[in-house]
Amino acid sequence: MARFGSFVILTFVFFITTAMADVPLQDFCVADLKGPVLVNGYTCKHPSSVNANDFYFGGLHMMGNTSNPNGSKVTSVYVTQLPGLNTLGISLARVDFAPRGINPPHTHPRASEIMTVLEGTLEVGFITSNPENRHITRVLCKGDVFVFPVNLVHYQRNIGNTNAITISALSSQNPGVMPVANVIFGAKPEIPADILAKTFQTTKENISNLQKKF
Ligand SMILES: *[C@@H]1O[C@H](CO)[C@@H](O)[C@H](O)[C@H]1NC(C)=O
Ligand SMILES: *[C@@H]1O[C@H](CO)[C@@H](O)[C@H](O)[C@H]1NC(C)=O
Ligand SMILES: *[C@@H]1O[C@H](CO)[C@@H](O)[C@H](O)[C@H]1NC(C)=O
Repeated sequence: MARFGSFVILTFVFFITTAMADVPLQDFCVADLKGPVLVNGYTCKHPSSVNANDFYFGGLHMMGNTSNPNGSKVTSVYVTQLPGLNTLGISLARVDFAPRGINPPHTHPRASEIMTVLEGTLEVGFITSNPENRHITRVLCKGDVFVFPVNLVHYQRNIGNTNAITISALSSQNPGVMPVANVIFGAKPEIPADILAKTFQTTKENISNLQKKF
């Protein structure tokens, strides 16, 4: 009985600590994007100077320009676009895909992503951590919903003959993005080519060619 009691208390304490971490300590903390103080997130604008526009973003119905090598365009609604998101732990993104367009493999270091397809047909996937590196993939049609767990490498590709549109909700005001290719081949200063040559079991020349592209 005593053991059961301490289990209940421990569970309760755990619940409180995890719950507290996600709950803001005020109604809102609209980001002061130009504030000089660096904290985890942005400092708050004075509540009396806040207005409805601080909680608003317009234009997500507009198609993104997909005329680029990816054939896709991300329109982000993160805290920098919508200051009212500060401290709330959520955000949104629209992605447009031309036929055959891709959103290249990337991770979000601070967010899980739940995505719904508004138009088109997409192949999506994510890869699990070592040692399995299991590739979990499937095709999504209009109205389908898929979740990409926090931090895992994932991608999307439009496999239809028409444009595709997705809307994603993310569990951070500032999810961050780490495109795998950019991180590896576009690091500044660059990762020494001989390290990458060993990593990818290829030649330094081939690595240098890739580094030039990023
Ligand atoms: C889309 O982007 C391309 C490449 O940057 C540019 O040439 C083109 O004018 C843009 N189209 C529109 C409608 O903005
Ligand atoms: C293509 O996608 C990568 C990875 O997301 C991104 O870093 C890059 O800016 C994109 N290119 C264009 C032209 O949008
Ligand atoms: C380096 O790239 C060339 C040209 O793409 C390719 O033929 C060759 O097999 C590559 N070398 C290795 C070791 O992967």
